[in-house]
Amino acid sequence: MDHAPHGKEKKVAKGERLRRPAGPPERKVSLARALSKLGFTSRSQARPLIESGRVSVNGRCIQNPEVRVDPDREVIRVDDRVIRPAAPVYLMMHKPKGVVTTRLDERDRKTVYDLLGEEGQWLFPVGRLDKETSGLLLLTNDTQWGNRIAAPESKMPKVYHVKLNRSISEEDMAQLRSGVLLEEGKTAPAEAVRLRQNEKGEWIVLTLREGRNRQVRRMCEALGYQVENLVRVRIGDVALGPLSPGGIRPLTPGEVRRLAPPSKASSPSKRE
Ligand code: URA
Repeated sequence: MDHAPHGKEKKVAKGERLRRPAGPPERKVSLARALSKLGFTSRSQARPLIESGRVSVNGRCIQNPEVRVDPDREVIRVDDRVIRPAAPVYLMMHKPKGVVTTRLDERDRKTVYDLLGEEGQWLFPVGRLDKETSGLLLLTNDTQWGNRIAAPESKMPKVYHVKLNRSISEEDMAQLRSGVLLEEGKTAPAEAVRLRQNEKGEWIVLTLREGRNRQVRRMCEALGYQVENLVRVRIGDVALGPLSPGGIRPLTPGEVRRLAPPSKASSPSKRE
């Protein structure tokens, strides 16, 4: 790599492209988003803070929340305190039934943020679970890691235990496996196996590699069944295990890697 002699500016010939400095790739976001990405405050709370003149970037006071900055490369201060990126956090929660995954619920229902407490307010869920669905929910502040898992191209298997209101026929099991026609098109091939059955209905295990809205419920309803209970028990090869409803635990480094390698830009050593 070329280096400018110490203390001198390297001359750039006309037409020559400037090389990027080494380090994480440049990723500019609005200043308000940068403060939320850094784990300092939410985007909406960052706006009045910036407008009030308390935030500077590389020593210059910035009062426009939309100004684009790179939080990995530029020095952002609030009231003269340098805001450093938060260490990456990777958690699993056993989301209980009746709790929503949104940050603010307009109907004032209980949210996963009520369970996370103050330190978890800057995490975001990797994918969603319906209010009435319980089970494995991943939460992180590593946006790139979360996006890699949630991206449709990842085809990350998600395994659900599904309680149906009645026993399911072999034809309908075959239909779940080959694809069910929903409003927006046919679902991708899935795995479906029987778990247990009694006079009150049947539990099956359904493994999906796509994540459409309310997909399990809509697939079963399209075949004429009611879903009475839905639990996500596994994502990739990370299982919910014995965590009880409302329980939260950090993922092990092995689990983080197996789901997706952590983002280089998020490793705390690169962020000092
Ligand atoms: N499928 C559903 O129907 N609901 C969920 O919460 C997840 C998958």
